[in-house]
Amino acid sequence: MSFTRRQILGGLAGLAVVGLGAGGASRYWLGRTGPGEGHDYELIAAPLDVELVPGFKTPAWAFGASAPGTELRVRQGDWLRVRFINQLPVETTIHWHGIRLPLEMDGVPYVSQLPVKPGEYFDYKFRVPDAGSYWYHPHVSSSEELGRGLVGPLIVEEREPTGFAHERVVSLKSWHVDEQGAFTDFSVTREAAREGTAGRLSTINGVPQGVIELPAGQVTRVRILNLDNTVTYRLNLPGAEAMIYALDGNPVKPRPLGKDYWLGPGMRMCLAIRAPAAGEELSLRNGPVRLGTFRSVASHDTPGDWPPELPANPVAEPDLANAEKLNFNFEWVGSMSVTAEGKPPSLWQINGKAWDITDKTCADRPIAKLEKGKSYIFELKNMTQYQHPIHLHGMSFKVIASNRKDVIPYFTDTYLLGRNERARIALVADNPGVWMFHCHVIDHMETGLMAAIEVS
Ligand code: C2O
Ligand code: CU
Ligand code: CU
Repeated sequence: MSFTRRQILGGLAGLAVVGLGAGGASRYWLGRTGPGEGHDYELIAAPLDVELVPGFKTPAWAFGASAPGTELRVRQGDWLRVRFINQLPVETTIHWHGIRLPLEMDGVPYVSQLPVKPGEYFDYKFRVPDAGSYWYHPHVSSSEELGRGLVGPLIVEEREPTGFAHERVVSLKSWHVDEQGAFTDFSVTREAAREGTAGRLSTINGVPQGVIELPAGQVTRVRILNLDNTVTYRLNLPGAEAMIYALDGNPVKPRPLGKDYWLGPGMRMCLAIRAPAAGEELSLRNGPVRLGTFRSVASHDTPGDWPPELPANPVAEPDLANAEKLNFNFEWVGSMSVTAEGKPPSLWQINGKAWDITDKTCADRPIAKLEKGKSYIFELKNMTQYQHPIHLHGMSFKVIASNRKDVIPYFTDTYLLGRNERARIALVADNPGVWMFHCHVIDHMETGLMAAIEVS
């Protein structure tokens, strides 16, 4: 593999006109005419002090002026053109989680591109084929970079109006901070060997116990994104009239939220919530713990009705009858003490192989080679006592069966594989490239639970 490092900032002068400044990302539109010159967003990653614990500063890293970062929006089928400027003290990339795009835009270091060094920029340009709720994050030193706040929502709007008149985006993240707002370890080996290292302070849109207003009596589309490194939120909204309209990037037949929904790291859910009378509140909870509040405020609109099902995305339907079957076993090794200096511990494996994030050549040894255009069924077997949100880059897959629950088949990019669960997913290998396939508990991914799948 060879990459050129042509996109180096030759002094910031030319860019200063659009308003550079630590954390102060500017956003501007040039009209989306196509890939050519220019960009729709200028996204700056830079240090940003945030106040998570009242009276204390947390030295976060952010995309734009907030952490989670600037919300990016684009219309389905259009180009998204982002000039990414790295003003961090470390190298990084941006990965566009859930977007089916060409490999060169996927943000994986040494596979898609070279890491973007401090002071450099990189232009990301791709067309977004699917509408839905997505997100973006680095794929370099992930436990620290995501842990410090480098995560942000990417919303792809449907081409035609959907019938939702109101919309909110709710980004969930738990921060690894102490009582003074100082960062604690993003990954502790003892925890990485179990469910992953969790932060202690949960926030919605960067605010502990945040409040989101909903228009009373109206149905609002609420996009809930789990941008956390580790936590699977057992989401529930007691007493709410709430329907699930989409899971991860893709629509499902609307159904009641029910008792709860387990949203693993990287996963998203699109809810429709009919807000109660003005002044009333709903609490958004993780199991029994309140994360934040939806507050109903007076609305002059006439009460809206439940919109119809969202239109399906153009994802190829796998041919199950003729699909080739492949097995993927997720195992715990836990050989904590034998790793060489400077290497993360090797705790997890897929089909007997552990990924080493310090070895730039791992992607040269894909765990499976798929033939372009063919259908495949992956049998996922979790041989561990912990759950793993299994994520694939580059292609969406259809969840078709599980030995643990009834599955209504649906397309997604991340499946929360329960402890000791076996599940079957299917896909058409229609995007050529070398695609990461990993657990989205970040310190599981960084201690072995990642592999590459080649499509050619
Ligand atoms: Cu959110 Cu490798 O992914
Ligand atoms: Cu991804
Ligand atoms: Cu995992």
